[in-house]
Amino acid sequence: MNKTEFARRRKRLMQLVGRDGIAILPTSPVRSRNRDVEYPFRADSDFYYLTGFPEPEAVAVLVPGRPHGEYILFCRERDPEMETWHGRRAGLEGAMAQFGADDAFPISDIDEILPGLLENRERVYYAMGCNSEFDRQVMEWINLLRKKSRAGVHAPGEFIALDHALHDMRLYKSSNEIKTMRRAAQIAAAAHMRAMQVCQPGMMEYQVEAELLHEFMREGAPSPAYPSIVGGGANGCILHYTENNAPLRDGDLLLIDAGCEYDYYASDITRTFPVNGRFSPAQRALYELVLAAQYAAIEQVRPGNHWNQPHEAAVRVLSAGLLELGLLKGKLDSLIKNEAYRRFYMHRTGHWLGMDVHDVGDYKVGEAWRVLEPGMVMTIEPGLYIPAGSKGVPKKWWDIGIRIEDDVLVTKDGCEVLTCDVIKEPDAIEAWMAGQASTATRSRRKASR
Ligand code: GLY
Ligand code: MN
Ligand code: MN
Repeated sequence: MNKTEFARRRKRLMQLVGRDGIAILPTSPVRSRNRDVEYPFRADSDFYYLTGFPEPEAVAVLVPGRPHGEYILFCRERDPEMETWHGRRAGLEGAMAQFGADDAFPISDIDEILPGLLENRERVYYAMGCNSEFDRQVMEWINLLRKKSRAGVHAPGEFIALDHALHDMRLYKSSNEIKTMRRAAQIAAAAHMRAMQVCQPGMMEYQVEAELLHEFMREGAPSPAYPSIVGGGANGCILHYTENNAPLRDGDLLLIDAGCEYDYYASDITRTFPVNGRFSPAQRALYELVLAAQYAAIEQVRPGNHWNQPHEAAVRVLSAGLLELGLLKGKLDSLIKNEAYRRFYMHRTGHWLGMDVHDVGDYKVGEAWRVLEPGMVMTIEPGLYIPAGSKGVPKKWWDIGIRIEDDVLVTKDGCEVLTCDVIKEPDAIEAWMAGQASTATRSRRKASR
């Protein structure tokens, strides 16, 4: 993302905050993993969305109309010895020159400087409740000002959740964001193609995971967007399975839910395929049903439709199919109304996607489902899960877990499937796994009315 995009975002937010408001955003804390080892640091998404600043121990403050500069960044100072041990820092100069801050101060001086910035501002925009340590600090600054009221200092009277305005901005992706998300999608798609190609009975789940990570990293996406799920057979029926340590068995399906983070944007793809490269008749029947549900859901992604329409379409197709296969019994409409499908399909059909894999943005406005608009990106991920021992279910269906997930952008006249570079038609999967490469069978990118 370029500097102008970050500047444009700050400007928009400052228009919402107004001249008597102030916005405060800390980045994520560094977290300890075990003795002397930290979890890899990743900036807070809201903070990064506005700053592009990748270092820990930083706080951004937006003070609309402040004569000495509206955008202030508190960060670590340059320190040759610390940088020798732990890596480079932008420092105060870099915060201004590289990251566009109007003013920069050492993070160690924040207690002295921040109360002065709050003085005579009426409203504080801040995401209360996300970081208790920082919440306490903010309250201390406010209390300090309250104590000075006799000296004519006015403390802010109102706290406003910053999340709401900011998350609404993040829901609509700009053309630069869409470009980045296309790239994240392409990298993850290539990783899934590679996983299908190498998979063999007898391999361990983590060996397939290694192939995904290899592809992510060599394409410049050093981290998955979330822990990869690589589950063979029964493990494919555990929605958030991440142990990835079992052998892959001939005759089982393998469910892989894996996406990368590229330049702070996530992709999120699930594919399910036979470990040995050939679907059994029962596996194929359920797979084709999930695929039909996914197509029906994608068909509903277009401006003017509401958030729940893709889910409703998927549920209808899945319920009808389960009825036809004898896995549900009764009348279609009452099965849907009573949510009988939830026994085999217990999650929703998607979520917003962006800097966070389960991205921000409201799904409802008041009581009504959100209406889809160009620039929104969501996943479409129906599935079916039938663990062994499912009561009243014939054995041939046991241990089949299937999910098919793509990332879909709402466009002006329909949608674009960002993850279309990874195949999902069962014949195409079998041909690819047999080594008969084919690009003619790629999934459809565009779906429009
Ligand atoms: N990978 C998490 C999800 O699909 O929602
Ligand atoms: Mn997902
Ligand atoms: Mn997923």
